Amino acid sequence: MAKKTSKRRKPTGQLSGEPLLAVFVTALVFVSAFCFFLFVRSIDNGNLPTIQQVNSRSPMKATTFSAVSNFSNAGGQAAVPSARIAVVESGPYHDWKIFAADFRDMMRQLKIFVYPDLYRKVGSFAEIFLAHPNPFNPKIGNYVSEHLFKLALLRSSLITTNPEEAHFFFLPFSVNHLRNDRRVHSEDAIADFVANYVVKISQEFTFWNASAGADHFFVCCHSVGREASSKHPHLHNNAIQVTCSSSYFQRFYIAHKDIGLPQVWPRRDEHPLNPPQARDKLAYFAGRIQNSRVRQELLDLWGNDTDIEVFDKSPLRYEEGFRRSKYCIHAKGYEVNTARLSDAMHYGCIPVIVSNYYDLPFANVLDWTKFSILINQADISLLKKKLLSIPTEAYLAMYHDLCRVRRHFKWHIPPKGYDSFHMTAYQLWLRRGIHRLSH
Ligand SMILES: *[C@@H]1O[C@H](CO)[C@@H](O)[C@H](O)[C@H]1NC(C)=O
Ligand SMILES: *[C@@H]1O[C@H](CO)[C@@H](O)[C@H](O)[C@H]1NC(C)=O
Ligand SMILES: *[C@@H]1O[C@H](CO)[C@@H](O)[C@H](O)[C@H]1NC(C)=O
Repeated sequence: MAKKTSKRRKPTGQLSGEPLLAVFVTALVFVSAFCFFLFVRSIDNGNLPTIQQVNSRSPMKATTFSAVSNFSNAGGQAAVPSARIAVVESGPYHDWKIFAADFRDMMRQLKIFVYPDLYRKVGSFAEIFLAHPNPFNPKIGNYVSEHLFKLALLRSSLITTNPEEAHFFFLPFSVNHLRNDRRVHSEDAIADFVANYVVKISQEFTFWNASAGADHFFVCCHSVGREASSKHPHLHNNAIQVTCSSSYFQRFYIAHKDIGLPQVWPRRDEHPLNPPQARDKLAYFAGRIQNSRVRQELLDLWGNDTDIEVFDKSPLRYEEGFRRSKYCIHAKGYEVNTARLSDAMHYGCIPVIVSNYYDLPFANVLDWTKFSILINQADISLLKKKLLSIPTEAYLAMYHDLCRVRRHFKWHIPPKGYDSFHMTAYQLWLRRGIHRLSH
């Protein structure tokens, strides 16, 4: 364009005679016609100018053109730097800004109603519904998240006593208590108890029938909790199960409807993190091998390794391995989940997740690939090669991101900030908006 314009202007400035102008105009028309002819011919032959040809003739046009037509070309290149900045800002989050804004809305608006059994101290089964008096009792161990959720909810600003303003209704039975109650105990009896309870509240209150249970939820950390809903189709199909054993591969777990709950070990103390340079072992796993092919394979492959430490019965104190290793292996046992994942986070050790079809907690907010390694169970023999191939820089970036997400795997009573309780509540918030029948 610039060339053509200067050509046209130059002659008009220097040659003012009419005949010369006429000759020039004629020439211009002729040249234009010839170019048009070439253009049409190239279309006829299907030889449209390539992006590179257009690019070499007119950089401005090419950029616009290729940006629209092919993202990996010039236009794409222009987009890369800003994409990189976004990644750095979001870090371990898919989109921190969107999440943080929506989270603020949730904190202002979300309301949860709890059925009164949580407060009633009457009846021989009252304990099943009450908050646990001592969740840090060592006997609770792995299942403490279930109790901490309830205790945090009771102290949170999200609870309401007005069911009309509630987005969700909490069914406060404890699967952990049911499991420990001799009168109930078996999976079958737990499922009967739970089904009867749902029938009871659907008769006493109008809320269940208004949505067929779709705005109701229950929380459990014991894997038998999954079976708890098995004898009540609406409870199973519609209500939300908030569970530690969230596996795409298990019956009675429904991905996208149900919610993965972080499983944590009851731990009050907080120690300073061992920095990356003080971690001289590559990887660590300690845990019962029984019932787990994956763990057996780990032991067979790396049982005598000096970089990767795998123990059935650890000679170290359990925490020591987490403190001195860069990577900590979370290998499927009987279930996809164990508290080992949040143990690794607690001690600043990058989790290596060898647990297929685990619906990882908060995966719609957190980009797990930024602070953990996900390995197919079938690729376990490549584990060491894979870990050794991670450059130091990438490891340090993961360590940094892990430090940022640790707060989501901690419970506080009362709940605070972006802790496990509020993150779980946010998962409910994303599932709100259920249509209700009037009553
Ligand atoms: C985009 O450009 C790249 C690189 O030139 C090429 O490999 C790819 O096939 C193009 N894709 C499309 C959809 O044109
Ligand atoms: C809810 O529906 C069930 C089954 O249809 C019925 O037995 C129950 O009485 C209803 N609850 C109320 C509060 O109307
Ligand atoms: C580890 O070494 C011991 C002693 O040499 C041996 O008996 C055992 O089979 C080895 N285990 C593995 C998994 O290689």
